[in-house]
Amino acid sequence: ISWDAQAAQKGGFTHFMLKEIFEQPKAVADTLIGRLSDNNQIVLDEIRMSAAEIKDLKKILVIACGTAYHAGMIAKYAIEKWAKIPVEVEIASEFRYRDPIIDKSTLVIAISQSGETMDTLMAIRHAKSSGARVLAICNTNSSTIPRESDAVLYTHAGPEIAVASTKAFLTQVIAVYLIGLHLAQVRGVMKDSQVAQLYYEMFELPGKIEQILETVEPLRTLTRSFAQSESVLFLGRNIGYPVALEGALKLKELAYMHAEGFAGGELKHGPIALIESGTPVVAIMPAAGSLLAEKMASNIQEVKARGAVVIAIADSPLAAADYLVRIPATHEFLQPVLSVVPLQVIAYEMAIARGNDVDQPRNLAKSVTVE
Ligand code: AGP
Repeated sequence: ISWDAQAAQKGGFTHFMLKEIFEQPKAVADTLIGRLSDNNQIVLDEIRMSAAEIKDLKKILVIACGTAYHAGMIAKYAIEKWAKIPVEVEIASEFRYRDPIIDKSTLVIAISQSGETMDTLMAIRHAKSSGARVLAICNTNSSTIPRESDAVLYTHAGPEIAVASTKAFLTQVIAVYLIGLHLAQVRGVMKDSQVAQLYYEMFELPGKIEQILETVEPLRTLTRSFAQSESVLFLGRNIGYPVALEGALKLKELAYMHAEGFAGGELKHGPIALIESGTPVVAIMPAAGSLLAEKMASNIQEVKARGAVVIAIADSPLAAADYLVRIPATHEFLQPVLSVVPLQVIAYEMAIARGNDVDQPRNLAKSVTVE
């Protein structure tokens, strides 16, 4: 492990989690370094697949747990859009108890920060026994899951001490973006110039995360005003839907409060019955001007009409929301890297306001090494 003791200290922050939230620009930058060659080719030799094997791929199956699973959901949107390969995403503990349709033309991608999650480990063993090739995305060198996989793409988030995953999640998302672009390039479904364009947009993300982190103080104050809420709902659409799930998970594991993430379009199919006067609703807005942004704006109207207080995470002004957390604009598919940061801050601040142990939340472990 190339981590020194200093890196594992808090570095002047009150909690490891806050330190790791603020380390995200560097973690993303470190994961991106050297991944585009001089002739605009994505460099991912470590996935150890020939061009022929990549062209023969018929399906990708992503397996993971918790926050890593949410990174897998983002992978589905990006890889299907860019590489035009069908992607299934499955919770590891569910995958291993069914008879999946997989064979040598299936690439299984196992996402795990620790590389020791038993559910994910048992799932990749199940996949390998069915003949699938397994690629791990992991943040911990030489841990069990990479060792039992056919190849591994290490993220470079550095030591993540807080139980609640933040910077590791962002680097997992960056890793799946790189995989999607690499597969698209090798399969010839994206031009080198398009791939390079997206890579350079990703390279601007660390600076944009910094911008968000420089403006979080008002959000920390606002969050404290909701500390006694019974529950908080998170709404997202398309690639913002996994972000809504991740925001809800953070709040559950840190503030010990009921929180749920929904696809915006699902509201009218039941969840809207949860809205009461004063219910906080966090709306992860799609890129301004998109059709989905209009749909989300009407979702905001629907919940406000029933008394909700809406906090919108958006790249542009939004009159419909009660509170607006501005994030910089970026490519629609890269937006989760930015829109999740305010949600991490909300969960952190809510935990503090409720007097919880931020770095070691009750009942949770950093790595779930039992089934
Ligand atoms: C994330 O905040 C949680 N600590 C948890 O959901 C975690 O993502 C999950 O247990 C998977 O862990 P892994 O990435 O180490 O496999």
